[in-house]
Amino acid sequence: MPADQYSVLGKAPGPEELKKLSSDDVHLTIEKLDAGYGKMVILHDFNLFVGKAQSLCLIGPNGAGKSTILHSIYGFTNITDGAVKMRENDITHLSPNEKLKNAGIAYILQDTSIFPAMTVEENMIMGGFLMDKQNQAREAAEKVLEKYPRLGERRKQKAGVLSGGERRLLEISRALIMEPEILLVDEPSIGLEPRFIEMVFEILRDLQQDEGKTIIMVEQNAKKGLEFADIGYVLVSGQLAMADSGKCASGRSRGGPLVPRRLAILLQRLLSPFVPLFPCHPYPGYAATVSPIPIQWQFPPAPPLPDDSGAQASWRLTIGNGVTSCVVIIAFILFYFKELY
Ligand SMILES: Nc1ncnc2c1ncn2[C@@H]1O[C@H](COP(=O)(O)OP(=O)(O)OP(=O)(O)O)[C@@H](O)[C@H]1O
Ligand SMILES: [Mg+2]
Repeated sequence: MPADQYSVLGKAPGPEELKKLSSDDVHLTIEKLDAGYGKMVILHDFNLFVGKAQSLCLIGPNGAGKSTILHSIYGFTNITDGAVKMRENDITHLSPNEKLKNAGIAYILQDTSIFPAMTVEENMIMGGFLMDKQNQAREAAEKVLEKYPRLGERRKQKAGVLSGGERRLLEISRALIMEPEILLVDEPSIGLEPRFIEMVFEILRDLQQDEGKTIIMVEQNAKKGLEFADIGYVLVSGQLAMADSGKCASGRSRGGPLVPRRLAILLQRLLSPFVPLFPCHPYPGYAATVSPIPIQWQFPPAPPLPDDSGAQASWRLTIGNGVTSCVVIIAFILFYFKELY
């Protein structure tokens, strides 16, 4: 990309800044990667860090090179410089088969990849084509089909009759046959209607949070992808333009480790105008000023106000300890009830 175009976007975050977005337990690293197809270089000096059981979402315009990043991790591109590492192991030049079988990386393609003339069950067994014995693949397929009864019920049907959402579910399930630690997911929501998009993200969330899988995804639906992911990267013309935690990049807060995410969202929505509960609070200054909750009860403690004395403090204590707080909170519960459920 021409340097002037890049500079319009400001300075891209370097490796040190990117490391801070990852957890300490870094699972997959891309270092200074130049990669492309044949002699055409698509990715330039690209870095990525993602921790174990974290999710990272890549967004960017068409042709920016998002899929090429997943291709490079999986071994489909020509890597001319840099490295891909899993923990401390350099896996840059492993073949896709080795990545799947030995390194525990599975790739779910952007384009549909089911075999329509085969049954759901046969498609699942194909996910274990690298296993040493066919029985192993059958057993693994059985386990996954039990986990997803929606597919299990249709195991004998041809995959070609499945709806778009069910096909996506089949593709994700098939990728689980080899019990990968890292899932590369290219455009999970592409072409799906909203209820299936929810279903797919729910499944991915379960795989990340309950099964500890690390997820690197590309998503056109930037809002959805960034709300889902712990880390968001924006790619422009093969180079990283921006990176942030998913919660900040999407402009919404998510729960930290202190409270479950759903509860955190509920609490934050109910109390957001009053309590600076979360680091990405939309109005931190405002909240600290008008909170009816006494400042010493707030968590994390609100920063001291410049003029936190006299009438202002006593006003806050009076209202904060009184019936007003309850009335306001109940009013907010009622007001937001419809939106939350
Ligand atoms: N197999 C390939 N051989 C040659 N060039 C390719 C190949 N795959 C992709 N490209 C080129 O690499 C560039 C980046 O493509 P890529 O598919 O990574 O973009 P993307 O960001 O995923 O776009 P989209 O949002 O449309 O999926 C494009 O110019 C594309 O034409
Ligand atoms: Mg793509």
